[in-house]
Amino acid sequence: MCGIVGVVGDDFKVSDVVESLKRLEYRGYDSAGIAYVKDGKIKVFKSVGRIDVLKENLRDRLEDEISAGIAHTRWATHGAPNDTNAHPHTDCTGKIAVVHNGIIENFRELKALLEGLGHKFRSDTDTEVIAHIIEEEYTGDVFEAVMKAIRKLDGAYAIGVVHSDHPDVIVAARKGSPLVVGIGDGFSLIASDITPMLRYTKNFIFLEDGDVALLEDGNVRIFRIDGKAIDREVRRIDLSESVAEKGGYKHFMLKEIMEGPQTLVSAMTGRIKEGFVRIPELDEIDLSNISRINVVACGTSYHAAMFFKYFVEQHTDVDVSVEVASEFRYRRPHVDDKTLTLAISQSGETADTLESVRLAKRLGSNIVAITNVVGSTITREADISIMMNSGPEIGVAATKTYVAQLTVLALLGLQLIKDRGFWSGRHKRILDNLIRMPELFENVLSFSNDIRSVAKKYVNFGHFMYIGRGYGYITAMEGALKLKEISYIHAEAYPAGELKHGPIALLDENFPVFAISPSDSLYLKTKSNMIECKARNARIISVGTFGNDELSDLSDDVLSVPRVADELYPLVMAPIIQLFAYHMADLKGYDPDKPRNLAKSVTVE
Ligand code: AGP
Repeated sequence: MCGIVGVVGDDFKVSDVVESLKRLEYRGYDSAGIAYVKDGKIKVFKSVGRIDVLKENLRDRLEDEISAGIAHTRWATHGAPNDTNAHPHTDCTGKIAVVHNGIIENFRELKALLEGLGHKFRSDTDTEVIAHIIEEEYTGDVFEAVMKAIRKLDGAYAIGVVHSDHPDVIVAARKGSPLVVGIGDGFSLIASDITPMLRYTKNFIFLEDGDVALLEDGNVRIFRIDGKAIDREVRRIDLSESVAEKGGYKHFMLKEIMEGPQTLVSAMTGRIKEGFVRIPELDEIDLSNISRINVVACGTSYHAAMFFKYFVEQHTDVDVSVEVASEFRYRRPHVDDKTLTLAISQSGETADTLESVRLAKRLGSNIVAITNVVGSTITREADISIMMNSGPEIGVAATKTYVAQLTVLALLGLQLIKDRGFWSGRHKRILDNLIRMPELFENVLSFSNDIRSVAKKYVNFGHFMYIGRGYGYITAMEGALKLKEISYIHAEAYPAGELKHGPIALLDENFPVFAISPSDSLYLKTKSNMIECKARNARIISVGTFGNDELSDLSDDVLSVPRVADELYPLVMAPIIQLFAYHMADLKGYDPDKPRNLAKSVTVE
């Protein structure tokens, strides 16, 4: 996700702002920029690429003394990564500069309105509309102008605003994206998190949704969006910078697992209207006449693809085939112009998936990509790209991006159901569950210590068998992969019904079973498989639904999740399998962020 920093006070230089911005590099980005007020003017420098590129462009100005400055690292969501789309964005007069983190859902309507009023836009971003709305509302008081402007915005934002006629002021606002104010002696700061500010202060105000902050040198006042002043607690946080980069968590992987609720929100933002799913990126194609979808993916993305197959085939007449990309690309697949190819890749750079896309295109298929990186290779080769909007994932193991993929695929499936005329009350319940998922996720994430306690009992086992049926098999596959790739423990995933065809020969007291056993339509079948495993003296960790008391008789350890629609158990169980693997790796003394032999993006074959 994007990063914001801002400083206001007498003793800052351009170099201070750039150095603060570098403290946000860990968040991942594709471009960076700065705007500062000097001699009554706003100066803006921005460039695609690393902050060092920006620093090179600023080389003659780094020692310039400034009264206020804002800066930004951009993780592209609307508009490709390039100099023009980098933040900050300015209004027509060049007197207002804005940095923004989040997604403005109604930016297209606002942009059309502003163009009708004569405003000229330079970028493809949603952010630029904010600068022009402030310009439109400005009558001499920048705080009032920002207050009026943000009332017109739908969606999520954290913003910082400077105005050349108000050289000692920053106005900041927050709704749905984090923003923190740092309080100093004669100066004040804003940033997306406390990391860039720890060098200057340990005193912070964590803005809440609907807060607007007026920073005038060291004087900070907080208001609600309705204009009422409010007192926010100033919290003292004595953290080192390196710990703060991980949000106070020991590893990026744990931080990213904990970002699940925000990930769900970001993946759904702008895609649910009046009780139905409408993915804007798909406005250009007619889903109602698609009868066959071929999905290509690798690793975790392949598991997400399998979820999509189960979901769509269960609820529509559409045939879905799912192919491991490294196999698909060497076969003679039956794909043609009547087949829609769906390519799932969080990095958008996986070689096998890209080659599969190219093969499908040669065979006449239209390509829809689901990815997390704007401007990645897959977005340039697909006909349409649906963004996951998860923000960058630093840990090598996919965690929040798996959650985002399941969410986007569930939305896509629900849109297909609607467009092909299969919508019913059952699908409305699934959508309602999906909308509630962030709070359900928070609940499951709160069991992290319980999951660690269970992991401690199994940390010395050398093998695990993950089993599940239906959607539970998808969770079993992803759980086995997570455990393998970060704890280096051998883990296999099998459809529970397949055990008796051989794998059960492996089970004994040294081969525990991780049984995905929600109270869904296949529970009784899974229960029989668990009893078979128990009869071979295998220890069982079961992942079930709250209230299913018999699991404790069937299992050695039980981890439970709230009841949801059968189709959504892979989502609500994701934190369980991710946290179990994380704690196992951590307890074994490994670094879950950098597992041996693995890369974040497998760009080689
Ligand atoms: C998942 O934890 C792994 N890091 C790996 O399997 C990954 O999912 C696979 O390489 C696909 O990556 P992609 O989604 O970027 O294409």
